[in-house]
Amino acid sequence: MTAQDFILKSYHTTIETGSVKWASPSNIALVKYWGKKGNQIPENPSISFTLSDCKTITEITYTKKEDTNFSFDVYFEGEKNEAFKPKIQTFFERIETYMPFLRNYHFKIDTSNTFPHSSGIASSASGMSAIALCLMSIEKELTKDTNSNESEESHNAYFNQKASFLARLGSGSACRSIEGELVVWGETESVSDSSDLYGVKFEGEVHDNFKNYQDTILLVDKGEKQVSSTVGHKLMFGHPFAKERFSQAHENLAKLKAILASGNLDAFVKIVESEALTLHAMMMTSMPYFILMKPNTLEIINKIWAYREKTNSKVCFTLDAGANVHLLYPESEKVVILKFIQTELASFCENGHYICDQIGKGAELIME
Ligand code: DP6
Repeated sequence: MTAQDFILKSYHTTIETGSVKWASPSNIALVKYWGKKGNQIPENPSISFTLSDCKTITEITYTKKEDTNFSFDVYFEGEKNEAFKPKIQTFFERIETYMPFLRNYHFKIDTSNTFPHSSGIASSASGMSAIALCLMSIEKELTKDTNSNESEESHNAYFNQKASFLARLGSGSACRSIEGELVVWGETESVSDSSDLYGVKFEGEVHDNFKNYQDTILLVDKGEKQVSSTVGHKLMFGHPFAKERFSQAHENLAKLKAILASGNLDAFVKIVESEALTLHAMMMTSMPYFILMKPNTLEIINKIWAYREKTNSKVCFTLDAGANVHLLYPESEKVVILKFIQTELASFCENGHYICDQIGKGAELIME
């Protein structure tokens, strides 16, 4: 598929008004996306676990209008929200070529998260993917009867691919939130159908060790990050270690593919933790340099290492672009690890807060 294939060529606007609603999850990268070029094209491939319970639920009501300006209102948890508008305006501008009907309707975007707003959890992946999916459902309504020769199956594949393509233009990591349980984004040799334009469901073999894999998010710092991901990505331009890092991501993804098949959890721990620390090493060695980890992030990492040393546990950590720690572990360790969190880790979290989640199957249509 090329970007051209996602341009909507014909649609009707006989529908005056309608509503659609989707729930879309967050995801946590195992091999990290850090660095992009052009129009949201990643510098390296990434792979993530889709989460199950950390979701954004978005309803879009569309109403036909006469003028051709973009027109939309955003409500967050029932209250009108002006702060989200510029990001959505930019998103609309980036995707209008692919969805010309955006100018024919007024959109009321009603959104809420299942996780607390001020938890330091990035909601751009779940938020942008939920909007992209709602817009795809509207596109489906406006193209009913025009694609009648297409099979249901090929239409569903196109639907997911284009939803991911659009979500990427809102926020890169959002393109990995449409499907589950593992999604690859970025062209790489070891995953034959991988693309820079959208995420693809990882179809390789996955060992039972990874079934219902757990992710407990330790909320070390619930505040706003000092450096946004968008700024961080830009600092990979001319970064002294960029070339090495980008090729390392390809290698790590190929290694991870074999690990997912074999179920070798010791090897999994090494790749995942190394990826997390490499991501933060890139931040510390860019110009300007910055540190997003907090003292308690390091306290937790040290506790995890000590715990693994004295038990046979396969628990490991990963980090996104912030201070919070994602604790990844097999379902078989759920009881003991929750005890470990309560007794040894919760004290390093802001107000003792953490969120328990696990690997999930992707976004869900709530209303069409
Ligand atoms: C560290 O997807 O938030 O979480 O494309 O600028 O919206 P934009 O960036 P974003 O970057 C996420 C980076 C990361 C790693 C990852 O999820 O792969």
